[in-house]
Amino acid sequence: MNNFIFENTTKVYFGKGGVKEYLACSMKKFGDTVMLAYGCGSIKKNGIYNEIVEILKEIGKTVIDFSGIMSNPTYAKVQEGVKVVQENHVDFILAVGGGSVIDCCKIISAQAKLDEDIWEMENQKKVYPTEFIPMGAIVTAAGTGSEMNAGAVITHEKKKIKAGIFGTQAKFAFLDPTYTMSVPFEQVLSGAFDTFSHAMETYFGKPDTNNLSDNINEAVMRSVIQNIHILLNDHENYDARSELMWASSIAENGILKIGKITDFQAHQIEHQLGAYTNCNHGQGLAVIHPVLYRHIYQDGIERFSRFAKNVWGISEKESKQETALAGIQALADFIKEMGMPITFSQMGIAADTDFRAIANSTNITAGCCKKLTHDEIFEILKECI
Ligand code: NZQ
Ligand code: ZN
Repeated sequence: MNNFIFENTTKVYFGKGGVKEYLACSMKKFGDTVMLAYGCGSIKKNGIYNEIVEILKEIGKTVIDFSGIMSNPTYAKVQEGVKVVQENHVDFILAVGGGSVIDCCKIISAQAKLDEDIWEMENQKKVYPTEFIPMGAIVTAAGTGSEMNAGAVITHEKKKIKAGIFGTQAKFAFLDPTYTMSVPFEQVLSGAFDTFSHAMETYFGKPDTNNLSDNINEAVMRSVIQNIHILLNDHENYDARSELMWASSIAENGILKIGKITDFQAHQIEHQLGAYTNCNHGQGLAVIHPVLYRHIYQDGIERFSRFAKNVWGISEKESKQETALAGIQALADFIKEMGMPITFSQMGIAADTDFRAIANSTNITAGCCKKLTHDEIFEILKECI
């Protein structure tokens, strides 16, 4: 195993009724002016907004609304949030939503304390922020695991780049599976597949020798498959939603990455696809993964055949190649069974999208078992159409 330093500073409140019971005490030590940040209205419809505002008012906080954070949050929306924070002298940011709201707030929190542009600072100078407006997260849609790490994915519309940048990490995260009951089922599946993707992207990283992180990871992947199966038959099953919600945090809170260099090539491709098409993150991954894996599996044959056996329960075939391919087929069949798109056209992505530009602007990762070229990424994208 590679050397590592591990710390996760987010306090997690998991379960039904957690906000009512613990939000007030978890907020007391922070300043009086709270920016309540959310998306495009779901929390007003399902009552979560009123529940939170009531609690904040009861403990004497001044609440400043910041709404309209869109899926695939933009750099412009971050700047809008920074203005609200600075004009109102906000002491604390409370992000209520899915990955998009949480990500946007992480970067608002950092940018509000900086005199220079965070995008340029991180991407050009490779300097990362150290001061933040403190922030908490209340998760309403599971999948990204954004609530337990400091990374955020922001779309810079002018530059046509969707990239990970570092901001603050939430001081606390509330994970109440009942909050996810109103999420459109298509999005529930998209989030669950995102979690599965995070686990795979870590599992297929380097080194691919035996380590504890990979053994835990296999358990996470099997659990995600099992609980998606339960939800497909029983959309509101609380236990399955709980398991998926916690798996989502576990997959991205660093535990599975211990001692590894992660892969995340599928994510890099999907992010650029998102920059050009504003597509749904989990759906984009569902289309890309099997196609990408068929391109690279021969360079990671041991790991792909282990994936087939230990995650999908496939018995060893005559050759490792056959075993590995059977695992990738099981993944593709599962995506179909979930009813997720298997081509870009099923996602509504136009055939005349500039896939060449997407390929050329995709980061090539160091952890992928095969170091791809931009031409290979272009081929992969074309196969996905
Ligand atoms: O905006 P509202 O009205 O709230 O609607 C949202 C949105 O339309 C809706 N929703 C959320 N909670 C709901 C609900 N609808 C009804 N009831 C509820 N309780 O769900 C829709 C999708 O929300 P969004 O936050 O966009 O989805 P997700 O959580 O999948 O986040 C996607 C973003 O996260 C990034 C993605 O790239 C994408 O930009 N990621 C962030 C990561 C991270 N920070 O660690 C890792 C991921 O790999 C990912 O890249
Ligand atoms: Zn993801």
